[in-house]
Parts: sequence; structure tokens; C-alpha cells
Amino acid sequence: MKRIYAKVSVLHILGPAPKFHRYGWFAMQHDHISPDADARTYHQPVMLEEVLCGLDVREGGNYIDCTLGDAGHAMAILERNGDGRLLGLDADPEATATCRQRLARFGGRAVVVNANFEDLEPIAQAHGFVPADGVLFDLGLSSRQLDAEERGFSFRRADPLDMRFTPSASATAADIVDTSSEEELADILYQFGEEPRSRRIARAIAAARPIANTMELAEVVRRASGYGRGRTHPATRTFQALRIAVNREMERLEAGLASTGRVLAHGGRMAVIAYHSGEDRIVKRFLEREQGMGFRRLTKKVIKPSSVEVRQNRRARSARLRLAERV
Ligand SMILES: C[S@@+](CC[C@H](N)C(=O)[O-])C[C@H]1O[C@@H](n2cnc3c(N)ncnc32)[C@H](O)[C@@H]1O
Repeated sequence: MKRIYAKVSVLHILGPAPKFHRYGWFAMQHDHISPDADARTYHQPVMLEEVLCGLDVREGGNYIDCTLGDAGHAMAILERNGDGRLLGLDADPEATATCRQRLARFGGRAVVVNANFEDLEPIAQAHGFVPADGVLFDLGLSSRQLDAEERGFSFRRADPLDMRFTPSASATAADIVDTSSEEELADILYQFGEEPRSRRIARAIAAARPIANTMELAEVVRRASGYGRGRTHPATRTFQALRIAVNREMERLEAGLASTGRVLAHGGRMAVIAYHSGEDRIVKRFLEREQGMGFRRLTKKVIKPSSVEVRQNRRARSARLRLAERV
């Protein structure tokens, strides 16, 4: 049995009123979690043990992963839920094609659907997953998508300004950059990227149009922002904002959370990992509104990854996990 010594923030759920406890250094047994080598290369599942504990994954249970990505979480759930089933959705057809292969060894226990989680309820109904024992959202984009040329998520290469999770969807980042007014661009950067210099950057983008590719956009933003060399690239917030606008991520998240209330069994669990404050705020407010009615929060405070995980996987550094139980 391989033992990994790690400092993690949550592990135990106790008794009928679940509580999460902070522990120091202890042994986490990882022999039961084996995302394959390909998953490790591309997308390491974030806060895996915390998600499995939070969802209380058990034998025979039926779970839904709304954001399959590279199937890291999905595979671990299927390894734990015995003869139970998993329904996995992803808006990206490339992700679902990859996951179909990766989950083939689980046979009929894994159902993969290329769909947006705003349609969670009818899809879960159609595949016999209502009521479900747990629903997971691991938001944003996967490392595989970030690394893929042609998808336009990265400013480190000269890729087309695309950023769509679903390549058949209508508006691309280029459409937004080319056709939005300077004011609309500033609003997008401020609202979805929390960019304090949104007006200045929007003015520079409007003046530089047409912008040929992601690298050119990043350079326009870098020059306009006046930010010095830091750990994060000056265009990070702009790229995040455009991606959120292209994929209508905020409104779809609201829709997905609302559907979860209708899909989960009483006592079923929801786990949501957000990667920026705008996203996390939507989850937090949803749970505040639903507190004691549709859902009960399992932890009052947001759960953050351990320092060990952040050292091993830089992508995890901004992750924020919220857990709730359907009442
Ligand atoms: C962070 S990755 C998930 C990684 C996954 N948990 C793993 O361990 O491999 C997020 C995935 O969610 C998908 N996604 C984002 N928004 C979506 C939506 N509204 N509906 C369905 N899938 C979505 C993206 O295409 C991406 O593949």
C-alpha cells in the first residue's frame, strides 16, 4: 500500500450532523485512487480526496460529474462506488470523446454525454440518474484544453481567438473582441475578470482592432495595463473574462446549481470547485439562499487545497471547494 504523507484540510465526516475537521500531517492512503498516467500528464484532479469524502462516495451509489474534463474525478468515483453508476457530462466534444475511451473499462457503469450542464435535469432523467446520490462541478477549463492549440485559451502561443468549450457554439472570443463597443468590453473585463484597469485595457483593445490572435491580444493588454512583471501574466484577467463571456459561464452555473436541487436525492451531496471569486460568489449566494430549504451547507467556510497539493499542482492554488447536502 502506497502511503503519501500530506497536510490536507478535510477528511472525516462524522455522524448524522456531518462535520469537517482540520488535521495536521497524517497518512492518506492512495492505493484506491489511480487516475492513469495520461490524466497525470494533462489534468491532475484537484482536491480529489476532499471531493470523494465530501460527496460521501459509497458502494452502489449513483453520481453525476457535470464537468468530466479528463475524467480524473469521475474515474476515482467509479473506482469507489462498487457496482454503482456515474453519469458524466462535458460541453466539449473532444473531452467527452477522450473520456469515453478512458472510462470504457467500467462498461455500462459509466455513461458519458456531450452536453452543457445547464441541461442537467433532462439528461439525468433520460439516463435514469434521478434521484442521484452526488453531483460534482469542477468548473472552468482543463489543462488539456489550455494546452490545445487552436482552442485559443492560452496567450503563450499565437492561437485563433476562439475560447469556446463547444466548437459548434456561435460566438467566439474574436466575435466579442471585434463587435463589442469599448464600454461593453470594459464591462466584460470588470464583471468577469475583476480587472481594475478594465477601461484602459478596453480602450486599447478597441484601438488595436482587428486583433489577429491570442498572443497579439495579450501584448495589447500587457502594454495598456501598465502592470509590471509578476507571477501572473497581465492578460490573465482579460482572458478569463473573455472565456466566461464566450461560454456564458455565470448564467449556466446558476442554471446547473438550480437543476442539482431537482436531481439529488434527499441526503444526496453536491460538491463545487470554483477557481475565481466571481464563480465562488455565485455558489456561496446560492447556498445562502437555499440554506435549510433545498440544501444544507456541510462546511460554513470554503475548503482550500493543502499546501502540499498546491506545491505539486499549481493549478490547484486558486481552487475553492463548497459542499452541501440536499435536505
Ligand atoms: C476543470 S475541468 C474538469 C476536470 C475534471 N474534474 C478532471 O478531474 O479531469 C472543467 C471541464 O468542464 C467543462 N465545462 C465547463 N463548463 C461547462 C458547462 N457549462 N457544461 C458542461 N461542461 C462544462 C470544460 O469543458 C472542462 O472540460
